[in-house]
Amino acid sequence: MTPPPYAEYRRAIIESGVRIVETAGSNPKEHIDDFKAHGLKVIHKCTSARHALSAERMGADVISIDGFECAGHPGEDDLSGLVLIPVTADKVKIPIIASGGFADGRGLVAALALGAQGINMGTRFCATREAPIHDRVKEFLVKNDERSTNVIFRKLRNTARVGKNSVSDQVVEILARPDAKFEDVAHLVRGSKGRELLESGDLDKGLVWAGQSQGLVHDIPSVAELIDRLIGEATALMGRLEGMMH
Ligand SMILES: Cc1cc2nc3c(=O)[nH]c(=O)nc-3n(C[C@H](O)[C@H](O)[C@H](O)COP(=O)(O)O)c2cc1C
Repeated sequence: MTPPPYAEYRRAIIESGVRIVETAGSNPKEHIDDFKAHGLKVIHKCTSARHALSAERMGADVISIDGFECAGHPGEDDLSGLVLIPVTADKVKIPIIASGGFADGRGLVAALALGAQGINMGTRFCATREAPIHDRVKEFLVKNDERSTNVIFRKLRNTARVGKNSVSDQVVEILARPDAKFEDVAHLVRGSKGRELLESGDLDKGLVWAGQSQGLVHDIPSVAELIDRLIGEATALMGRLEGMMH
């Protein structure tokens, strides 16, 4: 609603010694130029192969390619990772990270098979012990299944996938009205409300950003446990796949 002071954010990032930054959204050129001039690596997250190609031309070091399954903004093309990841891998020369819908070792192996060099997980990390959000939000992610999301803002061409709760249900209902505008839902979707929700655990306060991968989230491990498990699953799975070839 109010554009953030991006130049000031960049200064804070650069001055604090961060080495790797993920940008997202349209036209990252000014961010990439500034970060690269200061020696940072830039991962640009996008939702289409054509945007990946243009970010590569602008100097991004890595592309994070986000399929329709993802939490947050999946773009307007509605391409699942199963197509989007290999299509992008075929087109760009820089490494790609697969994003959207990944939560376990099976997803990691699938992403590698599709041409990615790694995965990004958003929703899965929210349900870890270290995530600085209320336990009720973590339990909400565990309880939800893969169908428990709402896709909102399509008519505003700013499509977003969020967890299904009373607030996102209301947003869907209001924006379905023919003459509805962003102003009609602004009071519901404010970032400050989402923040209150994450802090208080009151699940009717605002939006909860969550993706279809909720269907793969069944517990609240520590980050170390999660990563160990994921690598263990992926390693066992690769051994099994290898065996299938003989
Ligand atoms: C709580 C939460 C907040 C997010 N906020 C942002 C954001 O501010 N900007 C952004 O580009 N993506 C945001 N995302 C999207 C993630 O960066 C990532 O693309 C997405 O979570 C990947 O899909 P997954 O949740 O299925 O792993 C957010 C995701 C979650 C779960």
